[in-house]
Amino acid sequence: MIDDDSLHDTPLRPETVAVHAGRADLAALGVHAPPIDLSSTNPLPDIVHGGDSYESMATGGHPLPDGGNVYARLWNPTVARFEEGLAELEHAEAAVAFSSGMAAMTAAILSHTTAMGKHHILAVRPLYGGTDHLLDSGLLGAEATFCAEGEVRAHLRADTGLVVVETPGNPTLDMVDIAAVVAQAGDVPVLVDNTFATPLLQNPLDLGARMSLHSATKYIGGHGDVIAGVIACSEETAQALRRVRAITGALLHPLGAYLLHRGLATLPVRMERQQRSAERVVAWLAEHPAVAEVFYPGIDDERGLIPRQMRGGGAMIAVRLRDGYAAAEALTGSVRLFTHAVSLGGVDSLVQHPAALTHRPVAAEARPGAEIVRLSIGLEDPEDLIGDLAQALARIGVAVR
Ligand SMILES: Cc1ncc(COP(=O)(O)O)c(C=O)c1O
Repeated sequence: MIDDDSLHDTPLRPETVAVHAGRADLAALGVHAPPIDLSSTNPLPDIVHGGDSYESMATGGHPLPDGGNVYARLWNPTVARFEEGLAELEHAEAAVAFSSGMAAMTAAILSHTTAMGKHHILAVRPLYGGTDHLLDSGLLGAEATFCAEGEVRAHLRADTGLVVVETPGNPTLDMVDIAAVVAQAGDVPVLVDNTFATPLLQNPLDLGARMSLHSATKYIGGHGDVIAGVIACSEETAQALRRVRAITGALLHPLGAYLLHRGLATLPVRMERQQRSAERVVAWLAEHPAVAEVFYPGIDDERGLIPRQMRGGGAMIAVRLRDGYAAAEALTGSVRLFTHAVSLGGVDSLVQHPAALTHRPVAAEARPGAEIVRLSIGLEDPEDLIGDLAQALARIGVAVR
């Protein structure tokens, strides 16, 4: 961080934090780029101090100064650097990084349910299909009840350990009132999947959520070359999550952590530009005769959630196509600049069919319709993206005739 005391009189703005977080010690190390520590194991000072440090980390704590990092499943300095940066952007005391978004969700569930003797989770749909699948499977020993946002209080049980929401939700960008869900949940912790919004557009902990989870694979990495997850939270919650990570081994590789840390620096400009382009594409799609409905945060925001909890609608869009599945097939098969692929949040634009792919495992009654297609808007010029969509949508008539 910047040393000049006068700069600390005003809190640094997110764009500045994104560039400087997790770099405070670099000058003293005599380097400008963060070092990557690839050690799988570390020399021990002696049995007693090494053992004490092991004990501290295996129970979710930090390495002890005179005991070392011991073993990379317990602690890695490059991963810790990324965690520090992400925590600062999320206004959190701590963050814990994992090998994927699903590994992060698994640790959040285990640490708040079975590890606490609680066996029930409440979840508000829609959720990413993988999250829905994990919850519905009961694989982690907790039973999930899916309910609407307004029904959280009514479905709480004595053994409810966690409430899970995703806002904006994947794939139809439904928004959940985070503060209202936190109020309904009372003492039960609320986890918000903040993947679509990123810490630049939304900070769930400021609204009372216990955890803000990201599939860092998406906007945080931003270049489609890392799979990772991260949860921002209090230090107390971080200890519970790190304990699960140490025991189950769902750790993030340091090379991935380095790329994610680097991704943080450009996240604000990427989000700003991608969001601006998405707004332009939304306006164009809304007028297109092949499109029956456009889903984007802020369209029909009757509750005023954007000004209350978000700083813009982000860069994900979904559309309902008038000619149903055949139109979705024609669109995804005809794009040239957009890549027909799952995932999202990268520098290049993607298009995919949620019912067939990302949301395939979701129960039929909650699965997105076959006429819905999801778009992730990248850093290309929006007019070129519109040109591509125009030529692809023009083929729908041919395909469904
Ligand atoms: C909103 C959301 N949460 C979580 C995940 C899971 O993340 P990962 O694929 O990194 O495991 C995804 C993946 O698409 C997602 O879109």
